[in-house]
Amino acid sequence: MMFTKAFGLLGLVSTMTAALPMTLERRDTNSTGGGVEIINNMGKDIYLWSVSNSADSTMVTLTSGGNTYSESWKTNPDGGGISIKMSTTPDQADVLQYEYTLVSPLIYWDLSCINIGNGSEFTTAGFAVTSNDSGSCPSATCKAGDTACADAYLFPTDDQATHGCPDTVQMTLNLGSSSG
Ligand SMILES: *[C@@H]1O[C@H](CO)[C@@H](O)[C@H](O)[C@H]1NC(C)=O
Ligand SMILES: *[C@@H]1O[C@H](CO)[C@@H](O)[C@H](O)[C@H]1NC(C)=O
Ligand SMILES: *[C@@H]1O[C@H](CO)[C@@H](O)[C@H](O)[C@H]1NC(C)=O
Repeated sequence: MMFTKAFGLLGLVSTMTAALPMTLERRDTNSTGGGVEIINNMGKDIYLWSVSNSADSTMVTLTSGGNTYSESWKTNPDGGGISIKMSTTPDQADVLQYEYTLVSPLIYWDLSCINIGNGSEFTTAGFAVTSNDSGSCPSATCKAGDTACADAYLFPTDDQATHGCPDTVQMTLNLGSSSG
């Protein structure tokens, strides 16, 4: 998967960032200008955790009705990437992941359905990633009801689902796709 792929390059990046003061909110200390926004169109509350290897992750509740969560690209002080885990329940029973690894000047990202169950409400509703840089950054769409979505990881070997984009990109993940 992407974490393994980017690991060699990331060693270099983490060496450089290791000397920086560590805080949970790194967005203001070293921002490339890009990031991801997650929009809840599911018609119900969604629970979200932004997880790196070392940092504790706080549960964020996105109440229904188009509420959004935004994050500027962060680096993981332990190397590897960041996983934003989204669940329809606070106990993480049904987890859709948006994973990314910042290796300037690129951001590698993917959607992972590996931990979502059969009959997931995410699958039923569909979800899509778009960006403000469609010329150099691919999008990903899992249509409502598509249990075999080619744009997401269904199995750990689905490497074609990892995308590289300029790290200045602003991405949008719609849960319960608003764009159809
Ligand atoms: C972010 O960190 C990298 C690596 O340490 C550095 O080269 C870059 O200038 C930093 N960017 C900002 C906006 O501070
Ligand atoms: C999900 O559905 C597939 C196909 O119907 C089935 O083989 C599999 O056992 C199911 N998995 C779970 C966790 O229920
Ligand atoms: C996308 O949005 C980010 C953040 O606002 C901005 O820095 C970047 O230049 C934009 N990219 C394009 C191609 O417009």
